[in-house]
Amino acid sequence: MLFLLLPLLAALFPGGDSDVGKNGGFEDPVSFHLLQSSTYNNHSWVHQGSGWFGELQTHSWNRSSGTIIFLYPWSRGNISNKELMDLERLFQLYFMNHQDFYISQLMFKGPFDLQVAADCERHSGKGFLGFVQVAIQGSDFMSFQNETWSPYPMGGRKAQKACNLLNLNQAYTNRKHWLLSDTCPRLISDLLDGGKAHLQRQVKPETWLSSGPSPGPGHKLLVCHVSGFYPKPVWVMWIRGEQEQLGTQRATLDVAAGEAAGLACRVKHSSLGGQDLVLHWAPQSAVGLILLAMIVALALLTVLCIHLSCSSLLPIVFSSF
Ligand SMILES: *[C@@H]1O[C@H](CO)[C@@H](O)[C@H](O)[C@H]1NC(C)=O
Ligand SMILES: *[C@@H]1O[C@H](CO)[C@@H](O)[C@H](O)[C@H]1NC(C)=O
Ligand SMILES: *[C@@H]1O[C@H](CO)[C@@H](O)[C@H](O)[C@H]1NC(C)=O
Ligand SMILES: *[C@@H]1O[C@H](CO)[C@@H](O)[C@H](O)[C@H]1NC(C)=O
Repeated sequence: MLFLLLPLLAALFPGGDSDVGKNGGFEDPVSFHLLQSSTYNNHSWVHQGSGWFGELQTHSWNRSSGTIIFLYPWSRGNISNKELMDLERLFQLYFMNHQDFYISQLMFKGPFDLQVAADCERHSGKGFLGFVQVAIQGSDFMSFQNETWSPYPMGGRKAQKACNLLNLNQAYTNRKHWLLSDTCPRLISDLLDGGKAHLQRQVKPETWLSSGPSPGPGHKLLVCHVSGFYPKPVWVMWIRGEQEQLGTQRATLDVAAGEAAGLACRVKHSSLGGQDLVLHWAPQSAVGLILLAMIVALALLTVLCIHLSCSSLLPIVFSSF
């Protein structure tokens, strides 16, 4: 079920500036996915639907009204009111019909989970590719491509039967094919156009260092946190001086306790305009000592001041920190 595992974490890859922001910020292929997740339990269905432009969710489905929710003003693209109503009607019918299909025709006995992913991809130079994948209970069941449904071996007899039935229904496969080969590519063009400002924005990362749970006696785990940035490509590496720490193409580093000093985390991102962020690891014991020293000094000063009523001294001391 790889296709449902939307990457949640930023891709960390080596390479550097030249890889960041190529294709004007758009990855190839540009894709749109419709995801459906339905559960059947105790004679009733719950459907959830969402639309994703690449990894950005742009649409969701309003279950109570049976309408499409546009998450951005530009999510609607250039489709007319008429076309929008036709699409919504199509999805409403689809949700109703497929309930009956799985329960009455394929005789699934509840409770069960159904996941459907419809993808269309625009490849530079190679046109469009559209396909649908269906999974039941988290395992591949059948797929649709080139106007034909094909069962996955692990779908067994039910998948075979489902494909035989669906392939006989010419009106249904034609409509599915039209959605993938006409509606979806038009939507991709509209989203690329209308969402340009949003998709090409640059947001600088927020970064900080911390230590993670100790990986073993005498070892420390140093963690370099990088968050809130856009777009996704980012490069994070632990360095000592100018030297990259080998095998650390990720944000955590396992080091012997004595060797943390002198390490730094280096972050490259397209929003930084070539100015890498470098965060130096400050040994926590040293930070702790400095804090302790400051607290002791302040306490002494306060005691002194109570005795000497030196009210003008405190602000000067504070401002020198
Ligand atoms: C199943 O649904 C019926 C009616 O909708 C309800 O009365 C019953 O409590 C439900 N059972 C369970 C186990 O949720
Ligand atoms: C979904 O539809 C209902 C009924 O029309 C409406 O009250 C609700 O605000 C809608 N929800 C969203 C998130 O648009
Ligand atoms: C679908 O058709 C295209 C060309 O029409 C072909 O290249 C591709 O292999 C076909 N895919 C499947 C799964 O049949
Ligand atoms: C969508 O409509 C806008 C104006 O309404 C137009 O400028 C734009 O070119 C259209 N985009 C496409 C892909 O047709």
